Amino acid sequence: MIALAARGVVPGLSVVLVGDDAASAVYVANKEKFARQVGMHGDTIRLPASTTQAELLALVEQLNADDAVHGILVQMPLPSHIDPDVVIRHIAPHKDVDGFHPVNVGKMLIGHTDGFLPCTPAGVIELLVRSGVETRGAEAVIVGRSNIVGKPMAALLVQARAGGDATVTVCHSRSRDLFEHTRRADILIAAVGRAEMIRGEHIKPGATVIDVGMNRVADASRASGSRLCGDVHFESAEAVAGKITPVPGGVGPMTIAMLLQNTVRAAERTASRIGA
Ligand code: GUN
Repeated sequence: MIALAARGVVPGLSVVLVGDDAASAVYVANKEKFARQVGMHGDTIRLPASTTQAELLALVEQLNADDAVHGILVQMPLPSHIDPDVVIRHIAPHKDVDGFHPVNVGKMLIGHTDGFLPCTPAGVIELLVRSGVETRGAEAVIVGRSNIVGKPMAALLVQARAGGDATVTVCHSRSRDLFEHTRRADILIAAVGRAEMIRGEHIKPGATVIDVGMNRVADASRASGSRLCGDVHFESAEAVAGKITPVPGGVGPMTIAMLLQNTVRAAERTASRIGA
């Protein structure tokens, strides 16, 4: 950032939010807030749920062509009349700070470092490395096979490098004996989107538990009538796990940190290309 500032470059992140999904609105506001806090140019383009796919693609093209925009993020989920894969493929790969474009997914899979890593799985790796959790040779079990978390998480943990070298199992809704797998895990990553489904009895004593879930459940004891929770039942899991991430406040802030890191990298690469 300092080197970029000396060259007169301010990393720019444009976030696009279509429709009025309440959770997405909170995520997007946080992304913009933290981008500005670290001195980036962050703006959010809010479009109505009635926006057509063609209109959204036209906006992405405009952002692709804008030299002040280094990173583009289209918040998911999109309204059902818009195909997310078409939109993701439309974002210029060198501005795809989400790491969702097939070019960046491919680079991640083969271990090339000149693409962008998807923010949530990259944040999990960073958490493991910085917390001194040994991934080499560890049994890592991921619950969930989404394109955003489960699949890329497996790809990163299996790479032959620091924060990798794990033996990876990916579990999903068709897995037999799910908890047989979770009980074997040295590192258990829950990314399934089901409130508190993993409890202490499903966890190996001393395991590292990473909770990627973000669920809102009814809670009559709260003034709001609801609370946020993860895919892991924190109280029972905490008693068994060696290390565990809370929800909120665990993986979420790391995801945003990785997004900002990707945006700085995008700005650095653009600045090098145009000789700023
Ligand atoms: N929706 C939930 N997580 C994400 C994310 O990391 N990126 C985008 N674009 N949408 C999301």
